[in-house]
Amino acid sequence: MRAIQITDLSGPDTALREVDIAEPEASHMLTPGSGVLVDVEAAGVSFPEVLQTRGEYQIKPPLPFVPGSEVAGIVRSAPDGAGFSAGDRVAAFPMLGGFAEVAVAPDFLTFGLPDELDFRQGAALILNYHTAWFSLVIRGRLKAGETVLVHGAAGGVGTASIQVAKGVGATVIAVVSTAEKEEVARAAGADEVVRSDAEWRDEAKELSGGGVDLVLDPVGGDRFTDSLRSLAEGGRLVVVGFTAGSIPEVKVNRLLLNNTEVIGAGWGAYVVAKPETNRQIGAEIAKLIDAGHVRPLVGAGFPLSAAGAAEALNLIDGRGATGKVVLDVA
Ligand SMILES: NC(=O)c1ccc[n+]([C@@H]2O[C@H](COP(=O)([O-])OP(=O)(O)OC[C@H]3O[C@@H](n4cnc5c(N)ncnc54)[C@H](OP(=O)(O)O)[C@@H]3O)[C@@H](O)[C@H]2O)c1
Repeated sequence: MRAIQITDLSGPDTALREVDIAEPEASHMLTPGSGVLVDVEAAGVSFPEVLQTRGEYQIKPPLPFVPGSEVAGIVRSAPDGAGFSAGDRVAAFPMLGGFAEVAVAPDFLTFGLPDELDFRQGAALILNYHTAWFSLVIRGRLKAGETVLVHGAAGGVGTASIQVAKGVGATVIAVVSTAEKEEVARAAGADEVVRSDAEWRDEAKELSGGGVDLVLDPVGGDRFTDSLRSLAEGGRLVVVGFTAGSIPEVKVNRLLLNNTEVIGAGWGAYVVAKPETNRQIGAEIAKLIDAGHVRPLVGAGFPLSAAGAAEALNLIDGRGATGKVVLDVA
């Protein structure tokens, strides 16, 4: 089968090779001897793959390896009792090996893909939307009627978080850096959009009538203190990522003085050994798809080639991605 491998750790432009390799067995490292084999139609591309081309991600497989954490496609075979049959449309999370014509995923990280979503949207579903549900609802305790501020709101996690928060019944204030990204955040369903290069903290306080209940932060960096200042009493700041590059530090007296919380949300580490939690999150996302709240925005697609994958990774690395970036595989 055709696949893209990371062959060294020199970065997106030079680390990738298109190769012809054997198809995977129907066995996943999380479920040895068992796995759902998927004929891949589209593969999702995300920040971790950028980091993996430089050896900077926490998961460091031996070289060479096929990256690609999530795919959408058609089931070729599934273990007995998995609830899938050959020919089913699915979104699946193989963790690695997604940049290929065939991938293998654990049954508990494989989800039926409803007809409302195409394969590109399916490849945008698991990492971002499961993270959004996990961060907003499970970790952040978001409730209907609350106000959420979403940083990096035109990105993959950001657009997903807007849609999930709206589906929960919250009001969403999006923070973005450009006019183009403002359009994307509005298309995702944001009620209000503020610019990160303007007085976003004051605007958010005014728009929310004194402070937001929750901040969802995949960006980090030096806006963190202002995020804390934008919270209402009892507000929560959920830490999801650090695309700005630096890991913020917090003076905990701020939390005491304003009765606020900082909450970590690491979806992968939490769910990887919890099949039932994955199924529950999958069921919640399915309800949001059914109700029309979840419609992944795909900002760019590239072919399954070394050049195509490099372009996809560079788009993310250069802060140019909107919504989800995918590789068209079939
Ligand atoms: N905790 C978890 O379980 C979990 C799960 C999935 C992903 N993540 C993490 O969440 C983060 C966001 O992922 P994503 O897929 O949403 O990425 P993305 O689509 O590239 O979006 C990230 C956003 O970050 C903002 N940003 C600010 N400074 C940036 C910079 N210097 N370089 C690049 N972007 C910058 C950009 O928005 P503006 O230009 O509008 O500022 C951009 O739209 C990543 O760090 C990822 O690893 C965490």
